[in-house]
Amino acid sequence: MDKLVIRGANPLLGTIRVSGAKNAALPAMAAALLTEEPVILENIPQVRDIETTRRLLAEMGAEVELGYGRAHHRTTICCRNLASPEASYELVKTMRASTLVLGPLVARWGRARVSLPGGCAIGARPIDLHIKGLEQLGAQITQEHGYVEARAERLRGAEIVFDKITVTGTEDLLMAATLADGETLLQNCAREPEVADLADLLNKMGARIEGAGTVTIRVQGVEKLHGAKHRIIPDRIEAGTFIIAGALTGGDLNIAGCEPQHLGALLQKLEEAGIKTAHNAESVRVMGDGPLRAADMMTEEYPGFPTDMQPQYMALATQAEGTSILTENIFDNRFMHAQELVRMGANIKVEGCRATVRGRTPLSAAAVLASDLRASASLVLAALVADGETIIDRVYHLDRGYEHLEEKLRGVGAQIRRIGEMLPKRVLAPVVRT
Ligand code: UD1
Repeated sequence: MDKLVIRGANPLLGTIRVSGAKNAALPAMAAALLTEEPVILENIPQVRDIETTRRLLAEMGAEVELGYGRAHHRTTICCRNLASPEASYELVKTMRASTLVLGPLVARWGRARVSLPGGCAIGARPIDLHIKGLEQLGAQITQEHGYVEARAERLRGAEIVFDKITVTGTEDLLMAATLADGETLLQNCAREPEVADLADLLNKMGARIEGAGTVTIRVQGVEKLHGAKHRIIPDRIEAGTFIIAGALTGGDLNIAGCEPQHLGALLQKLEEAGIKTAHNAESVRVMGDGPLRAADMMTEEYPGFPTDMQPQYMALATQAEGTSILTENIFDNRFMHAQELVRMGANIKVEGCRATVRGRTPLSAAAVLASDLRASASLVLAALVADGETIIDRVYHLDRGYEHLEEKLRGVGAQIRRIGEMLPKRVLAPVVRT
C-alpha cells in the first residue's frame, strides 16, 4: 500500500493547475448509457474513481476508449450494445457513485440491477431517494440479495419533491427523466455546479432540461438522445484544497484553470479567516502572508460551504488564532480526520456534528492514517505545515479523487514523495549492470 511522505514548513509558491471535476465526470460518463451514439468527454481527471467507472461501463458491454498522449484527458464512450445492465457489489463497494447508472439504465434499457452501497466511512449514505424517485417515474423496484432491481417498459414523467437535497439523487433522476414519457418536475433539487454541468451535457445530447442549477428542474422527455462532445468543468474541491494549501503555508499561489464563481462560500469564509485572495475569470491567487483568525463554519448544500472542504478547513483552523466551531450538517460521521490531526498536535474536540478547534497549536509530524478521500487531503495540508516528516498511510483514498497530487504540489515547492510497500530484500530483483 502506498504512503505519502511529507516534510513540512515550505511556503508554496508559483502556479498550480486544477483538473476536471471528478464529481462532474462521473455522472457525465453514466449519461453515455442513455444513447447508442458515442459521447466524447474532455477534461476528465485521471483518478481512481474514473477508472472504476470505466470498468463499470466496460463490464456492462460499453466501448470505452481512452485518450493517449496529449489527449489523455479525453474519453469516448459508446453504449450501442449492452451485455448486462448490472453494477456489481465488487464495484459499488469501492465507489458509491456507481449507483448513478441506475436511472440511465432503466430509462434506456428498461432494466437495471445495481448493488446497494451499504455503509460508508463518513456516515450512513442510503439511496432511498433515488429508488423512491424512480418508483414515482413508474419503475417497478425489487430488492433482493443486496441488489436493487428496477424495471420499466417506459418511464413516465412525474412531479417529484426530494425529501432531502441529494446531489447524485438529483443527477440520477434527471438522467432517467430525459427519456421518460412526458414532463417531469423535480423539486428541492441539489444546485451544485456538477448538476448544471450534467444538464448541459444532456441538453447537448438532445434532452430538454430547464432550471438545472436551481431548486426546480423541468424535463420534457424525448424519444431518443444522441451523441455529443462535452468539456467537464474544473474541480472546485481540488481548487479549494490548493487555496488552503497556499494560505496555510504562508505562500503565494496562483490556482489556475479553476472557476472562481463556484468557490464563493469558501472564498468568503477564508476572507473572514484573514486570508487574502484575488481572482479573475479562471484563476485564484492566494497570498498567505497575514495571521490566520478563527472563523466558525458550517457545511451546507451548494451554494453553502461544501462538506467536501470541511476536513481541509479543519486543518486550516488548527493554525488560526482563537476557537473555531465547525458544524457538519450533511454527513453524520465526517470527523474521522480530527483524531489524526490531534495526533499531530491539534486541539480538537468533537461532539456530535460539531468540532471545536482551538488554535493556534504547532503541528508536529507523525504517522497518520487516511480514512477517506477528503480526510486524506486534510492530513496532507496539516503535514505541509508540520515540523518534521509526516507519513500518511492508505493514500489510495486520495488517489480516488486527486490527480497527480504529489507532482502538482512538488511543482510549487512542497517536499512530498510517495513510497510503495517495502518488499523483503530477498524477493527484490537483482540489479543488472551493463
Ligand atoms: C455527492 C458527492 C460527494 C459530496 C456529497 C455532498 C458525488 C459523486 N459525490 O455525494 O462528494 O460529499 O454529494 O455534497 O457527486 N441521502 C439520503 N438518501 C438518499 C441520498 C442521500 O438520505 O437517497 C442523504 C445522505 O445520507 C447525506 C445527504 O443526503 O446525508 C446528502 O447526500 P448526497 O447529496 O446524496 O451525497 P452524494 O450524492 O452521495
